[in-house]
Amino acid sequence: MELMDKLPVLVIGKKLYLRSSLEAEGRRMFRCFDTEEAQQAIKRLPPLSLKRVESDKFYFVKLAYWLDLPKSKPLRILDIGSFYGMWPYLCQAYGHDTICTDLPEMFDRIEVQEMQKILKVSSMALRIEAFKPVGDIGEYDLITGIRTRFHSVLPRESGLEKEQHWGVQEWAYFLKDIVTHIRPGGKLFFALNRLQSREEGGAIPIELKTFFCSNGAYLKGLFLRFDTVELLRSMSRIEKCDGIL
Ligand SMILES: C[S@@+](CC[C@H](N)C(=O)[O-])C[C@H]1O[C@@H](n2cnc3c(N)ncnc32)[C@H](O)[C@@H]1O
Repeated sequence: MELMDKLPVLVIGKKLYLRSSLEAEGRRMFRCFDTEEAQQAIKRLPPLSLKRVESDKFYFVKLAYWLDLPKSKPLRILDIGSFYGMWPYLCQAYGHDTICTDLPEMFDRIEVQEMQKILKVSSMALRIEAFKPVGDIGEYDLITGIRTRFHSVLPRESGLEKEQHWGVQEWAYFLKDIVTHIRPGGKLFFALNRLQSREEGGAIPIELKTFFCSNGAYLKGLFLRFDTVELLRSMSRIEKCDGIL
């Protein structure tokens, strides 16, 4: 456990919070998980464990504070790769009009549908693919993607020998497209999974870091945040073959 995890206080943004009060807020916000029906439904959601759901309550509340969601005016939010919708549920509980999205096959799963009935968040099937526009998804003040690995393919899912991760061109295409769905003044936030293979350390390759930062990103570990998307909007040509950005 890191030293920071042992401290009774947390700094989020520029504010100081009592860890115990945010943990209590997590339990309160996710009270709908306390019923026998919800506990049984969570157990049917492999690979999730009840322990992981407990720690995620705190994790998501911290994220919400970091993004200023508890105090913000009502926003329209789209979340990419929500699984059964724990994060969109929290955004909704803080007063935001939120859409939960995931792969169509994920929403076909009975156990995911069961959880969605409990959480009551609107959902929409959405598959992010390299060099394909996301299509007619609507317009939002905030688009998020939490631990959603749309930007990489692992051997166990693909049969490939090695992990494959998006490079600058794939990211540029995706960001340029997704910001057309961001309202003026809107934001983008991703809590990324690995951006290069485990063998290479999993961290952000330098060329991606440079690309994100030169387009207005704030990077903190694997958190990628664009508080303004104007530089992304004005990014010039993106062409798959020539690599001209
Ligand atoms: C590790 S789970 C994270 C779920 C949730 N966001 C969370 O933080 O608990 C990753 C989710 O991303 C979805 N996903 C994976 N690839 C995707 C893609 N190409 N487009 C959209 N969603 C994708 C998966 O189906 C899965 O539900």
